Amino acid sequence: MSYSVLKKRVPKALILNPPINNSLTKELHMLSPEEIKKLAGTAAISLVENNTTLGIGTGTTVYWFILALAEKVKQGLQCKAVPTSRQTEKLALEHHIPLVALNEVERINLTIDGADEIAPGLQLIKGGGGALLQEKMVAAASDRLIIIADHSKVVQQLGKFPLPVEVIPYGWKQVQRRINALYNIPTGLRLKEGQPFLTDHGHYILDCHFGQITDAPALEQWLNDIPGVVENGLFIRLATEALVAHPDGSTSILKV
Ligand code: 5RP
Repeated sequence: MSYSVLKKRVPKALILNPPINNSLTKELHMLSPEEIKKLAGTAAISLVENNTTLGIGTGTTVYWFILALAEKVKQGLQCKAVPTSRQTEKLALEHHIPLVALNEVERINLTIDGADEIAPGLQLIKGGGGALLQEKMVAAASDRLIIIADHSKVVQQLGKFPLPVEVIPYGWKQVQRRINALYNIPTGLRLKEGQPFLTDHGHYILDCHFGQITDAPALEQWLNDIPGVVENGLFIRLATEALVAHPDGSTSILKV
């Protein structure tokens, strides 16, 4: 979706910050892709209250949130955080963010996580970083799930981004055959340095190029019913808000 189309869809009242405007030249300074991620990650820190049990997602946008959170913790913010991956756990520990295991909390007040696609109704594709299983468990235990993302992640329909399906290595080709038999789409095994990519739980990932997903809730259920599938990257009825950052330096909030 183009930026201008997105802007039309976002009601004015939900624009959080105005664009960065150089008042001398009246020229808009357009942010680089990394600056937009940084804007999304750092803007989300204003949504974290003191004494919160916080879920922390995974990815390059969440990276900036973790740095902003570390700064707040240094300044005295009290929180305990549940990481969604080893990568996030390592970064949080390096920055002295207090961590707690999912098993040790009853509920999580707020989770901040990224996404690969955000569709109307806040239906998501996640798992580009391979952490979808723990991300979904943490999301399901959260009162609020706020997605942070750059504008390019907002789409009208899910499916252009290949849907990650996490599978048990034993017999994974049977799962692939089942998906191909019904959909006849590319379902590549994710590789890393020529070897199967392994999730934090030692599983494989099939990246499934659906192209267009018209009934995401039904597909989520169908995939998870295949023996050998551990979880898939469709997140339905989990996100409560999305904080989206734009090239002009503005941010907006999408709601269900
Ligand atoms: C990891 C995820 C990420 O949140 C998603 O891939 C977005 O990542 P990034 O912010 O790096 O674009 O689901 O499993």
